[in-house]
Amino acid sequence: QEGLWPAEPSLTGSLLSAGRGNTFTINCSGFDRHGVDPAVFQAVFDRKAFRPVTNHSIPTRVNISFTLSAILEVDAQLQLLTSFLWIDLTWDNPSISWNPEECLGINELSVSAEHLWLPDIFILESMNVNLTPSGFTTFISSEGRVKYSMPMRVTSICNLDIFYFPFDQQNCTLTFCSFLYTVDSMLLGMDKEVWEITNLSRKVIWTRGEWELLSINKATPKLSVGTSLYDQIMFYVAIRRRPSLYIINLLVPSGFLVAIDAFSFYLPAEGQNRVPFKITLLLGYNVFLLMMNDLLPATGTPLISVYFALCLSLMVASLLETVFITYLLHLATTQPPPMPQWLHSLLLYCTSPRKQGPAEPQEGNKSLGLSPTHLPGLKEPVELVGKVPGPREAELRKQHLVELWVQFSHVMDTLLFRLYLLFMACSIITVIVLWST
Ligand SMILES: *[C@@H]1O[C@H](CO)[C@@H](O)[C@H](O)[C@H]1NC(C)=O
Ligand SMILES: *[C@@H]1O[C@H](CO)[C@@H](O)[C@H](O)[C@H]1NC(C)=O
Ligand SMILES: *[C@@H]1O[C@H](CO)[C@@H](O)[C@H](O)[C@H]1NC(C)=O
Ligand SMILES: *[C@@H]1O[C@H](CO)[C@@H](O)[C@H](O)[C@H]1NC(C)=O
Repeated sequence: QEGLWPAEPSLTGSLLSAGRGNTFTINCSGFDRHGVDPAVFQAVFDRKAFRPVTNHSIPTRVNISFTLSAILEVDAQLQLLTSFLWIDLTWDNPSISWNPEECLGINELSVSAEHLWLPDIFILESMNVNLTPSGFTTFISSEGRVKYSMPMRVTSICNLDIFYFPFDQQNCTLTFCSFLYTVDSMLLGMDKEVWEITNLSRKVIWTRGEWELLSINKATPKLSVGTSLYDQIMFYVAIRRRPSLYIINLLVPSGFLVAIDAFSFYLPAEGQNRVPFKITLLLGYNVFLLMMNDLLPATGTPLISVYFALCLSLMVASLLETVFITYLLHLATTQPPPMPQWLHSLLLYCTSPRKQGPAEPQEGNKSLGLSPTHLPGLKEPVELVGKVPGPREAELRKQHLVELWVQFSHVMDTLLFRLYLLFMACSIITVIVLWST
């Protein structure tokens, strides 16, 4: 283009002309109060197929920034993050410049994006580019700086690790890169700091959904494909899941069921209630797991599944323990086998550590402090003892044996209960420690 305007001593003109060879490329005789005559931009529009440069060895510098306005979906199964971005691109088009003083003071014009050259910036991780809407408008300043903003729904591939679900953080990468232009033709830059992008995105994000934006970081390694080198900007978007939904729906009910299971050890072992109670709990827990299956990630083995499996196995173990103790008690009250000496000693040692060694039946009876009438199965033998004085010695011995076995069952019950508590505490602490790291 020829110089359309004489190099006037106006400040704007001289500033602008500094890098542009003293010329304004647009003749603004076409600017009037009714708008702009398209003819004055025709030369620019006609060249939209080419990168707008005065010298082809000078790369176009495109400044990129974006605002993350929504985190729509995180799909752990397909490993996809769906987000909504407002992308801002800025570059200089040296074939556009006019003198705003001459042109009715117009500093900025909006021009439909389809008439101008646009940089082919895309997101490497994006899995569907077709959702980008078209038909947007660019703003051109009198100095030829073009601003192009577009909203974009980006479904990007992201390496999601759900092991710590629901206390997980994800780190997804969005790499902005030119599809075609190498570093010789296009350089990418930023006119904003990443913390500005992060703060703006935090303010703008309207979804108070499951995911919370933690931070955005960037890195600018060059991408080398074959012999060509491409400029790229990588943004690391760190997001964190808000766990409250899962705490309320998954962890708390499960914790309650396990707590009830633990407390059900205080139901008397002799009563017939413990086994049905625990079976009901186990059934309830299974129903809970079935219903809550939808809330869990569909793939992988998160820690929470291990936790559920642990809770289930604790419940099964406690049911088995109760069955075992019930069996022991049944055996004790119906046909007690002779108790081995070592077991007897151990039992006495456990119940009253001061009285060791072989004890007399009567003494043992007192030391154990058990009244046989506690046991429903023992009422008959006690009555028998009163009625038949003949084989009194044998009856007494049998009664003592029964008491010993009953005592043994109770000791076993307490011991296993403590083991259960210990295991439960250990596993829950382990899970919590793993989650909190
Ligand atoms: C600008 O264009 C008009 C016609 O559109 C022409 O008459 C005028 O001379 C041009 N001005 C310059 C400085 O070339
Ligand atoms: C284009 O730019 C390069 C490097 O900046 C310079 O060496 C070359 O002379 C320029 N060419 C023209 C035609 O201005
Ligand atoms: C995300 O990952 C990148 C590279 O893998 C790393 O540089 C960055 O610090 C990570 N961000 C967070 C918040 O962990
Ligand atoms: C890009 O941003 C840098 C500041 O980081 C600024 O100096 C430069 O003028 C900007 N370029 C464009 C085309 O916006």
